[in-house]
Amino acid sequence: ANDKASVEDRLTSLCELLKAEVDYYTWVGFYFKNGDKNELKLGPFAGEPTDHTIIPFGKGICGQVAVSNKNFVVPDVSAQDNYIACSIHVKAEIVVPLFKNGENIGQIDIDSNVPDPFTEEDERFLEFVNEKVAEIL
Ligand code: SME
Repeated sequence: ANDKASVEDRLTSLCELLKAEVDYYTWVGFYFKNGDKNELKLGPFAGEPTDHTIIPFGKGICGQVAVSNKNFVVPDVSAQDNYIACSIHVKAEIVVPLFKNGENIGQIDIDSNVPDPFTEEDERFLEFVNEKVAEIL
């Protein structure tokens, strides 16, 4: 069933799977738009817990993707001025928006402790993952 608890369990398993299978995926999580507020709320994730459970639209890499509706690949987080650090070990980040019926309702966010690891293959793969996730939301 697609009830909320079951969806959350499945997304947590998905995050754990991605983190385990891809060696440069250090932290994998979903953020979703928080009701009608102009902010993102942390959803299921795998990796170290983050203090950033709420991110206003426009803030950080995640908040920028909430308004741009575009993938954001960051090869070097230290070169970003609008960036929210979750761990001092993180070197790179990729955020891919998640669309349901054409609407940007959230995103998958992946941090890497490896510098510049993300390729277009990650982008295409994560777009595919998000399309599949949208089907159960
Ligand atoms: N680095 C993100 C914040 C979320 S953490 O990576 C889990 C950002 O700049 O939006």
